[in-house]
Amino acid sequence: MDVPNHVAIIMDGNGRWAQKQGLKRSAGHLEGSKTLEKIAIHAKKMGVKVLSVYAFSTDNFKRDKEEVDYLMDLIIKYFNTKFDKLAKNGIKVVVSGRRNNIREDVKQAIETVEEKTKDNKEAILNICFNYGGQEEIIDGAIRLAQDLNKGLKIDNFKREDFYKYLYHDLPPIDLLIRTGGEYRVSNFMLYQMSYSEFYFTNTYFPDFDKSEFNKAIFTFQNRDRRFGGINDKKSS
Ligand code: IPE
Ligand code: IPE
Ligand code: MG
Repeated sequence: MDVPNHVAIIMDGNGRWAQKQGLKRSAGHLEGSKTLEKIAIHAKKMGVKVLSVYAFSTDNFKRDKEEVDYLMDLIIKYFNTKFDKLAKNGIKVVVSGRRNNIREDVKQAIETVEEKTKDNKEAILNICFNYGGQEEIIDGAIRLAQDLNKGLKIDNFKREDFYKYLYHDLPPIDLLIRTGGEYRVSNFMLYQMSYSEFYFTNTYFPDFDKSEFNKAIFTFQNRDRRFGGINDKKSS
């Protein structure tokens, strides 16, 4: 059975997971970060080549300063400690998102982890942080315009050609998972999800374990992907 090449997860429900048990929202984010480590290693073992995760959106700055600060501190702590384990598992970490308006220490931690894991070849973990899907397309369009000014010819520009103007040149998303029970994409990887299969679960992200992940993969394997064509094998 085909394993999806690129899986993306909107890791939602951390806050509600914590509130349900009378804890502060931050406890949910901490637990979610532990879940992410487990899922990243498991996904690689299953044969997934690229795992993209939504860790902090450009719109998440609308939250209380206390929560935003906690999330900024958490990503630094995470990159400085837990990511050695990902590195040892052959996982290359890349971070997608805007860097101009984030704290200097967060920027440093991102650059260090990207540098430390850059030669890893087994799988890619793409962490979307201070990320917006529309922002990514706008930033790419600006870079394309700059290349045009330098003389780039675009008579034959195809949709595949735009990937190299995105934050990282990653393949299209095969399977998009959203935990936490909401049915929306919240400005996640809009360009890359044009033909993704969607999988929604009510499970809050901290509870999203290996068996939940496997269930999503199994569902994907039973979908009939047609990409606008007709699948002779499955239609009758
Ligand atoms: C997702 O969990 C993580 C981030 C957005 C940082 P939430 O914090 O959105 O959790 P809920 O949706 O409020 O439960
Ligand atoms: C999406 O979740 C962003 C992340 C998971 C980082 P949100 O909780 O921010 O999305 P909305 O507000 O429910 O659309
Ligand atoms: Mg949420």
